[in-house]
Amino acid sequence: MGFGNSSGQVCVKDFFSSKIDNKSALKCYGDVDNADYSGFDTNFSKYLNEKSISEMIRVNDEISNVMKGFKINIKINMNILNNLVSNHLPQTTNIALGMIKYLPREVKSQVNPNALKNATGLHDIAKVIIPESIINKPGRLNEDELKIMREHARLSYEMLKTTDLDADSLNLIKAHHQSHQDHHTSNPILQSREEVTNVNLQILSMADIYSALRERRSYKKEMSKEDALAVIKKETDAGKFHSCVYDALVKYSEHDEVDPYTERKTPKAWGLFKYILNKGKTEHQKEKTAV
Ligand SMILES: [Fe+2]
Ligand SMILES: [Fe+2]
Repeated sequence: MGFGNSSGQVCVKDFFSSKIDNKSALKCYGDVDNADYSGFDTNFSKYLNEKSISEMIRVNDEISNVMKGFKINIKINMNILNNLVSNHLPQTTNIALGMIKYLPREVKSQVNPNALKNATGLHDIAKVIIPESIINKPGRLNEDELKIMREHARLSYEMLKTTDLDADSLNLIKAHHQSHQDHHTSNPILQSREEVTNVNLQILSMADIYSALRERRSYKKEMSKEDALAVIKKETDAGKFHSCVYDALVKYSEHDEVDPYTERKTPKAWGLFKYILNKGKTEHQKEKTAV
């Protein structure tokens, strides 16, 4: 299989030309019978598998250069990949897409559901090349480890930019841990609803944080709805998010959220997504969930 195109630019688009059937797509993630992959959108399996990820790394020197800078040999960790596809990625997608219907109409019109679906479903792909000793470290990350973790958004972008993903999805992935105030002088909470700054990034970022707080991870327990919402309320009050985006999350949590540990995940948000398309804690916990 060749990875050059007519312009000579290296890409892995050819890699994604053939369809993967849903059953075989899940096979590479391990114990398919016992793990819960019900929330996983198998359309993403073409990106989230060892072979594709190897190609993404092979064709883009930037990825190995960054990792060399940290003196880390690149190794694709299938445990982390398995965990991402069965938990955090589909949950972030469900939360983000589930929030859309609770946004005010003038804000909803700014939402790009397709980019939001792609970005939530793939945003943390680079975590598969970050050592498990850092990803699942039970204690506080040291400065060097934090620096590596903070690179995962940019690395995810670098991995996916040679694929067939569109620019809007890629830009959301690259920015998913950036503060909105990094790009804008005005404070989002002072904006009118008509001018919510990059609503897609705010939804992605809020859904990502909420999903991480609500998840059980090797280094922390899951947080209750109330506590997780309180953490995000604080960030909203501090100007990171627009209050109407926070209100949408609260309504989603009240009406649609399915507890990932007591009930099977139901893809309610997917129905809404299709409808839209068709129509047109502790300090340690905060630190870990912020990266
Ligand atoms: Fe992330
Ligand atoms: Fe994430």
